[in-house]
Amino acid sequence: MKSVLHFGSFGDTAFAKQLSLAIEGKKVMVLLDENSHRECLSALFQLVDGLSEAEIVELPSGEQNKTLEMCEAVWSTLTECQFSRKDVLIALGGGVICDMGGFIAALYKRGMDCIYVPTTLLAMVDASVGGKTGVDFGPFKNHLGVFNEPSHIFFDDHFLLTLPEKEIVNGLAEMIKHYLLIGDREKLVQMRSADFIINLEQIEQSVAIKKNVVEQDPNEKGLRKTLNLGHTVAHGLEGFLLDKEPMDHGLAVAHGLLVEAKIAENGGLLKPDDFQFIEDVLSANFEWQKLKKEDLEDIYNLMLNDKKNDSAVPSMVLLTALGQPILDQKVSKDMFTQAMVDVNFV
Ligand SMILES: NC(=O)c1ccc[n+]([C@@H]2O[C@H](COP(=O)([O-])OP(=O)(O)OC[C@H]3O[C@@H](n4cnc5c(N)ncnc54)[C@H](O)[C@@H]3O)[C@@H](O)[C@H]2O)c1
Ligand SMILES: [Zn+2]
Repeated sequence: MKSVLHFGSFGDTAFAKQLSLAIEGKKVMVLLDENSHRECLSALFQLVDGLSEAEIVELPSGEQNKTLEMCEAVWSTLTECQFSRKDVLIALGGGVICDMGGFIAALYKRGMDCIYVPTTLLAMVDASVGGKTGVDFGPFKNHLGVFNEPSHIFFDDHFLLTLPEKEIVNGLAEMIKHYLLIGDREKLVQMRSADFIINLEQIEQSVAIKKNVVEQDPNEKGLRKTLNLGHTVAHGLEGFLLDKEPMDHGLAVAHGLLVEAKIAENGGLLKPDDFQFIEDVLSANFEWQKLKKEDLEDIYNLMLNDKKNDSAVPSMVLLTALGQPILDQKVSKDMFTQAMVDVNFV
């Protein structure tokens, strides 16, 4: 089932009414964490009818709580409160709450209705779209999961007003990735400017790019893999820094986009002008972090062991031009090291 997408503001009666209609006649559970509870729930209570009786279930925030144990606690409450599969779970929060909410709903009585109200930029432009749900399993990220699309997704950019700056940065990296993938030079020029403002229109356009890719390739046989642009190197960096000074996902993706663009340029795939353009857009939005040359081997080995890699060398999505990604490009340790040196990351 495809999700119905709504863009607007919960301060607007007509928009709030859409959610009232979606939950009409159903018992409602709202799943949230302490931050989305504090910052976002009251906006829903003001104009959405039918929420006053809702079961509010708060989970502790953070990736470390994206576990099966937390899901079990929610399944227990659903059972105690006698929710049926026709009732509805609203996930109100960032990517962690949306991923878990979708997973909990998919498994409860073989699938109850689920609605997402994403409250971080990353959840709006990335996590809420595409139907991937799940939890982490020990050190393995998103190791347990199922595909499950929510029936509705409600996007309200007012939730971004309380979001810490670093969380905006996380979403911004994925937005830039989307525009690199479709080669929207004009949008990237806008994003290079200090005047660029993230609003509902920008969110809607970015969502449309991911939605389009996912609809063409829901099961990740080909096209959907292009969404991994920047992510092979990002996962290597994130994994390496995890027990040192953890790097946020978005910042790691920004580093990954730059290094992978340099690998493409060094390999003669991407024109120097295009690389320069990508570097300008990224440098205008992110602060670069330096690593030590002796760390590169460990980072490379982590890319090799990435769950999405199935060959003897890491393979990446590389750009041959803006809007022209190609899949499964094998990258040797020398190619990776050279690119890291060339972009001054060591
Ligand atoms: N399903 C997918 O396709 C997909 C895609 C990308 C990422 N993800 C997942 O998304 C997760 C990351 O999402 P995230 O970055 O939103 O993390 P998150 O859910 O941890 O939210 C980040 C922080 O912002 C807080 N927060 C949420 N809304 C707020 C608001 N309006 N005001 C103030 N604080 C607020 C949260 O409590 C949390 O502390 C990861 O688990 C990742 O695996 C899933
Ligand atoms: Zn990402």
